[in-house]
Amino acid sequence: MHPNPETPFAGCSRRAVLRTAGAAAAIACGATHAQRPVVIQFSHVVGEGTPKGQAALRFKELAESRSGGRVRVEVYSDSSLYKDREELEALRLGAVQMLAPSLSKLSALGVPDFEVFDLPFLFHDQNAFRAVTGGELGAGLLRALDPLGLQGLAYWDNGYKVFTANRPLRFPADLRGLKVRVQASRTLVEQMRMLGAEVSVSPLANVHDALRSGRLDGQENVPSNIESQRLHEAQKHLTLTRHGYLAYAVIVNRSFWSRLPSQLRDVLQAALREATVHANRIAAQVNASALERIQASGQVQVHTPSAAELAQWQRAMVPLQAAAQAWISPALIEAMRRAGAPPS
Ligand code: LMR
Repeated sequence: MHPNPETPFAGCSRRAVLRTAGAAAAIACGATHAQRPVVIQFSHVVGEGTPKGQAALRFKELAESRSGGRVRVEVYSDSSLYKDREELEALRLGAVQMLAPSLSKLSALGVPDFEVFDLPFLFHDQNAFRAVTGGELGAGLLRALDPLGLQGLAYWDNGYKVFTANRPLRFPADLRGLKVRVQASRTLVEQMRMLGAEVSVSPLANVHDALRSGRLDGQENVPSNIESQRLHEAQKHLTLTRHGYLAYAVIVNRSFWSRLPSQLRDVLQAALREATVHANRIAAQVNASALERIQASGQVQVHTPSAAELAQWQRAMVPLQAAAQAWISPALIEAMRRAGAPPS
């Protein structure tokens, strides 16, 4: 794990501290320490051009300029520092300070209620998702991270997931027997089982090679991730099911965050608010453009389901909303269903 240089006595080697006697050492080292910026290592697993990649860079730019150089944000994209599960461990240990994992991955930390966001066909549009995450339901879920030594600061949008495979997926039954990758979420695993697929939970960084080598036959993701991971180059068919929603929580190591001077925390929070507005503004367009390029590449055949086909996908997957009451709080599922439904 990569330690954050911003530790007590950063800039002072252990030997220097030991060599210089008592108070003199503290003053000498303290002076160096005061001039060093606070370093925030922000690790994520997708490309820089994706909604999350761009939002992380916007946060870096704002945090560094608004703090007058008192903060340095190092953004590590594309799993260059840690893969999916490792980054969560690294955050809890304080080896990185900030992440924006997908909501699906937060369940593995011990908060299965985050899987409510994985339920298929739950949010009829992005505004419904935003109303939930911007309100008390969203805030309550983030508070559940506190006892884990984490703090949830914001939600970032991505968009609707689609399926890809090496054979056409017109109907749910077309997934039967295929080996399909999902993120580490029981809800997503059960979703694929309901569709008769064989499930593989694996880090995003491994998916391209697994599809190429035939260890996987298909996967579900948003167009911006499919493009930036070049998954379409290893698949022949893509179906615009828009069956699930992918979004993120921006989370920090709680002890790191609470030890920051409160003024600096305010500056960072304001920078994050702006980066969040940016993330949510660009998400739909970034995915639409990625889909256009995927289509133009000619590498996959894109299938838009008819209303009747879509109804079949819904019939096959919506029963998971009830089945998931075995592992997600039923009251939360019900509240989300109401919030996610189209206005009557
Ligand atoms: C995935 O693993 O497919 C996504 O969670 C990646 C991401 O962060 O968008």
